[in-house]
Amino acid sequence: MSERSCLAVILAAGEGTRMKSSVPKVLHPVGGLPMVAHVVRAASSAGVGSVALVVGRGAQDVEAAVRPFAQHVSIHVQTERLGTAHAVLAARSAIASGFDDVVVMFGDTPLVDAAALGKARAKLSAGADIVVMGFHPADPAGYGRLVEHDHKLFAIVEDKDANPDQKKIGYCNGGLMAISGKHALSLLEAVSNMNAKGEYYLTDIVSIGHARGLHAVSVEVDAASVLGVNTRVELAEAEALFQAQTRKSMMLAGVSMIAPETVFFTWDTEVGTETTLEPNVFFGPGVKIEGGVTIKAFCHIEGASVAAGAEIGPYARLRPGADLRAKSKAGNFVEIKKAVIGEGAKVNHLTYIGDADIGAGANIGAGTITCNYDGYNKHMTQIGAGAFIGSNTALVAPVSVGANAIVAAGSVITRNVPDDAIAYGRARQEMREGGALHLHARNKAIKDNKKSK
Ligand code: UD1
Ligand code: MG
Repeated sequence: MSERSCLAVILAAGEGTRMKSSVPKVLHPVGGLPMVAHVVRAASSAGVGSVALVVGRGAQDVEAAVRPFAQHVSIHVQTERLGTAHAVLAARSAIASGFDDVVVMFGDTPLVDAAALGKARAKLSAGADIVVMGFHPADPAGYGRLVEHDHKLFAIVEDKDANPDQKKIGYCNGGLMAISGKHALSLLEAVSNMNAKGEYYLTDIVSIGHARGLHAVSVEVDAASVLGVNTRVELAEAEALFQAQTRKSMMLAGVSMIAPETVFFTWDTEVGTETTLEPNVFFGPGVKIEGGVTIKAFCHIEGASVAAGAEIGPYARLRPGADLRAKSKAGNFVEIKKAVIGEGAKVNHLTYIGDADIGAGANIGAGTITCNYDGYNKHMTQIGAGAFIGSNTALVAPVSVGANAIVAAGSVITRNVPDDAIAYGRARQEMREGGALHLHARNKAIKDNKKSK
């Protein structure tokens, strides 16, 4: 990355009224992460060290959302919305502190392409003064048109100000701009609001710069990377694009998917190579799957880690703190929360394991439940290595079962079971020879008696 210092001014003052939400627009998530945090992540990965956030409302929440992704964040409030140049100037103090590069980004554009941002910065270091991200939208209406000649950018004309010839230009302003830090403030300060919208247009700095003999160019990017979100319909479009990109990069990195369009990832999902994901799998935040894992159809996984060679599902739910070690198994209708499932241990059917530590090679029978909650507090269940828990066992925590111990099916275990012991926690079975014959005869007689009446 470039050695040049860089400030990203991120415009996030949009009211977002069309979202019909009490939450600021830029905090709506794509891939489980607020849109504005995607923008900051992209800036950071293009080598941007400082972020100036221009916000309208919800300043604290917006700051909290981006804080983990940038070294230095300053917050600037734009109280009146007088245009994009006016918004950038809300961060005047940050810009004035002196950076080699200033990049302007929009907080509602979550799929911004970090590589293109890096390219734009490279053009600044090669001598350009202003670099604009251009794209070819399906319909240019509403966008600023890039007036270029011979790879030189002379002006950006906003849609409302464009003449019929300029309206025919298909190459448009994506919104992102990289500006040489030494010219940024004086260019912004020269912008007026004498235009069709009566706004201070950031885009005017191109023609102002041209008149001053400065050099402006464009970098072309994909339409997807400049998709701005104004409604929940566009939010879903951005989500679909995010998922499509993530699936593709997962597959190219060695993850197999039978029906990729049915698998959903979060921004931080990690999946190792040679892992297979069957259809209809959902990953919430904080999931780490190692290589060589098979996740069968219809699983919901969040906050969990799964080690190499494990097999999950079909129809399994792994909740936060589920830690499945190598070659372990969690089968159908199994829910696991805050529990270690030791190496090679099996929890194959219809089970709830919560607040537990299951030793290596243990076998947890169908229908086993850890009774971890007494209505007030959570309690631990410990199962030793190689233990065998019979089907339909209730483990009333806090309780432990020792290594290689056996628990009989149908038990309710309330006392600790030592290593190598066998525990029966169920009523003894009673029997009467021929008792069934007697019962059949009696019940048939009652039925016959009713019919004859
Ligand atoms: C802007 C560009 C246009 C480009 C388009 C790409 C200008 C003048 N025009 O137009 O060339 O094709 O984006 O999507 O820059 N904002 C503030 N405060 C303000 C005004 C805007 O924070 O006072 C923020 C908005 O919340 C938004 C961004 O700046 O995130 C862009 O503003 P918007 O009004 O959407 O500009 P466009 O008309 O779309
Ligand atoms: Mg817009």
